[in-house]
Amino acid sequence: MREIRAAVIERAGMPVSIETLSLADPGPGEVLVRMTSAGVCHSDLHVRDGHWVRPGPIVMGHEGAGVIEAVGPGLDPSVVGRPAALSWYAPCLRCRECQRGRQWLCSGSPSLRHAQADGTTRLARPDGSPVLAYLSIGTMASAQVVPATAVVPMPDGVPPEVAALIGCCVSTGVGAVVKTADVPAGSTVAVLGLGGVGLSCVMGAVLAGAARIIAVDVSRTKIDLAGGLGATHWVQADPSNPAATVEGIRNAAGPGGPDFVFEAIGLPATISQAIASLPPGGTAVLVGLTRFGQDATFEAFPFVDGGRRILGSNYGSAVAAIDFPRYAEAYLAGRLPIDRLIDRRLPLDDLEDAFDRLRSGHAARQMVMFQG
Ligand code: APR
Ligand code: ZN
Repeated sequence: MREIRAAVIERAGMPVSIETLSLADPGPGEVLVRMTSAGVCHSDLHVRDGHWVRPGPIVMGHEGAGVIEAVGPGLDPSVVGRPAALSWYAPCLRCRECQRGRQWLCSGSPSLRHAQADGTTRLARPDGSPVLAYLSIGTMASAQVVPATAVVPMPDGVPPEVAALIGCCVSTGVGAVVKTADVPAGSTVAVLGLGGVGLSCVMGAVLAGAARIIAVDVSRTKIDLAGGLGATHWVQADPSNPAATVEGIRNAAGPGGPDFVFEAIGLPATISQAIASLPPGGTAVLVGLTRFGQDATFEAFPFVDGGRRILGSNYGSAVAAIDFPRYAEAYLAGRLPIDRLIDRRLPLDDLEDAFDRLRSGHAARQMVMFQG
């Protein structure tokens, strides 16, 4: 048992409060991690603002890295002391999808209940009442007990912030390109929305050898960031004129149009724009998650007539134990400049301010840093 500091929301839609909680020792199949860094992702903002209803009270955060401090009974203690990235979707390893190798579709994940595999939590308030951990890892905390299958040791030399980003936006964006869509070298790729996820799609397109990469955002700063990562063309979107964005993407793509359009925002309007930008044979890859209950529309006849495709990409089809170390190696080799996504480091106490900045659309990736 130990005391930790954590960012808690009472329920979806409520502001964050920084609280002292007790953290019980790891049980069988669980690992104690001292957190080093946690990213502020738009998915946290969906919960914070009540777009996604989640149970509470709950410790926020699902993009994080730390150092393994202890393992529960039966686990290999040789990993203690190693830095690790955390997966926000701890696979059960037993369900049909896990057995097929599609762990991102696991139906038995404890992450679905924001608790440990036995359905209970290791976190409590001073009065003894239980507190959940978002997606079982609740990374906005100085330490956490998490399912062992969420913990992926990192090679030496990977900074904590980079490991944290591998845990969500990098795997989501890079994986959408290199795994879900399996983009061939020489392709023309457009990316709509240049937050941590969209910029990771841009990095993935570079890694895949795309010939032309079109970066699309309302923000000029984000477009410049994408240019620094290897985007070759850009379109500054005006949300009041969606047809101009579609036209801009088509023009920038040149003859043949974009082979792939990645939507990394999660708005019905931009999903429709991504599909409308496709030439015959083109593929739209939907990466951004919308609010619950929203529909997106497209004109059906040309979609079918032109043999177009739509793919949904969840977590970049990540198998964390295999893909996280690969992305880390690509970073170390200078082929995935993950650290360039970061535009702010902050203490846990400033989390609400970081949410304000993310809401305004000005933030790239903001990283909460924990003291060693
Ligand atoms: N047209 C173009 N760009 C837009 C528009 C628009 N209509 N609206 C917003 N954007 C841009 C913003 O300027 C911002 O750069 O989309 C980007 C979104 O980035 P973030 O808010 O940082 O979101 P991120 O964390 O990257 O997540 C994107 O993926 O997993 C999901 O829940 C997550 O839905 C979210 C999405
Ligand atoms: Zn995320």
